[in-house]
Amino acid sequence: MELTWDVRALEAAAAEQRARRLESGADKLVVRNLHKIFGNRPELALRMLEEGRHKDDILKETGQVVGVQDASFTVKKGEIFVIMGLSGSGKSTLIRLLNRLIEPTAGEVLVDGQDVAAMSKSKLLEMRRQDMSMVFQSFALLPHRTVLDNAAFGLEVRGVDRDKRERRAMEVLEQVGLAPFAKRYPAQLSGGMQQRVGLARALASNPSIMLMDEAFSALDPLRRTEMQDVLVSLQREQSRTIIFVSHDLDEALRIGDRICIMEGGRVVQVGTSDDILQRPADDYVRAFFRGVDVAKYMTAASVAQKEQVTIFDRPEELVRGFHAALERLRLFDRDYGFVLDRDHKVLGAVSVESLVRCCEAGTFSLRDALLPDIGAVPAALPIDDLIRLVVASPCPLPVVDAEGRYVGAVTKTILLSKLCKGEQA
Ligand SMILES: Nc1ncnc2c1ncn2[C@@H]1O[C@H](COP(=O)(O)OP(=O)(O)OP(=O)(O)O)[C@@H](O)[C@H]1O
Ligand SMILES: [Mg+2]
Repeated sequence: MELTWDVRALEAAAAEQRARRLESGADKLVVRNLHKIFGNRPELALRMLEEGRHKDDILKETGQVVGVQDASFTVKKGEIFVIMGLSGSGKSTLIRLLNRLIEPTAGEVLVDGQDVAAMSKSKLLEMRRQDMSMVFQSFALLPHRTVLDNAAFGLEVRGVDRDKRERRAMEVLEQVGLAPFAKRYPAQLSGGMQQRVGLARALASNPSIMLMDEAFSALDPLRRTEMQDVLVSLQREQSRTIIFVSHDLDEALRIGDRICIMEGGRVVQVGTSDDILQRPADDYVRAFFRGVDVAKYMTAASVAQKEQVTIFDRPEELVRGFHAALERLRLFDRDYGFVLDRDHKVLGAVSVESLVRCCEAGTFSLRDALLPDIGAVPAALPIDDLIRLVVASPCPLPVVDAEGRYVGAVTKTILLSKLCKGEQA
């Protein structure tokens, strides 16, 4: 049977494969008990925090500002990790602590296992220039230099010779779709294009980590989603680790592999969008997601259930297997069942009717009884697309992982009940 994959389905499968790779991947960045106190008596403030005092009291009594309090998390190699929270929650402070643009008061930051706090000034500078680019909301392009020179600027500072740096700058301009504008000046470009020049500049040194603080916030919504797409596709191709600060939930859900939610300097939850939407840690997180169209971010995997009948195709026991399949469907009082091979890969669906028809025709192969138009859907398929398929399908749809293995099925009833639950949350 032909499985009906469309382009989005393939994309979704790729996304799932990526998620799996991330799960097994190496830790790129480890943050442990990181603190930042602004003020002249940080030790006192730390002690008060240890005693369980609230940051508001500490500010009132000592004038010390707790910027980040006891943050711990791990970012995997190749992950887009979004830090989100209300204004003043400590996002910018946290991201600047990672490359020591702000000196930590206490705690650890490890990049590839190396302690950032222990780095000498020159090593730190080298890391910022080469391995850990930072992209801000405004890129501060040099107005009297061409787009190409702007993109090459970081390499120029590092002393890379002209030929080499221009070749590299051209490469990254191509990646962000700006190659035809290489000879123009920033003022001749739109805001969105200028932002791309900034992104190209950050990419030019081929950093393994990019730190991006509200990098797209100044853009209009259309340019913004365009840039998000550029970033995600670049990241997929090049497997860079990206830490991305945003106060925009939509953006976080769109691009983030995982999201870290901050409140008042503390990390209150880290998880995938699915985790956070379905199991918010507290009311603050819940409030964040109020009004969010939860269904928009649900996937086939998050609604699939295993209650449907599965039938193993055993070509060596043709007739017996065939009758056993019919028996199973009758026993469980189901009209449809999914046929799996030895590796649990979905071959398709059969119905009581299609089985009986084959019986009557004297063919006893489960493969001959497969229904013609039932395709498997990938686990990462967005729910919007799934709804279309489920509504159009006469029978439940099997959901498969990136290798085509059965993970469960979705019926119209399951889908409806999940969607209603999502709405109440
Ligand atoms: N240099 C500083 N001196 C004193 N307090 C500071 C300093 N920088 C930040 N803060 C305080 O630390 C807290 C966290 O600020 P931060 O800029 O990290 O928040 P944010 O989440 O990035 O906010 P926004 O969304 O508005 O950018 C705030 O209370 C802020 O006033
Ligand atoms: Mg900020």
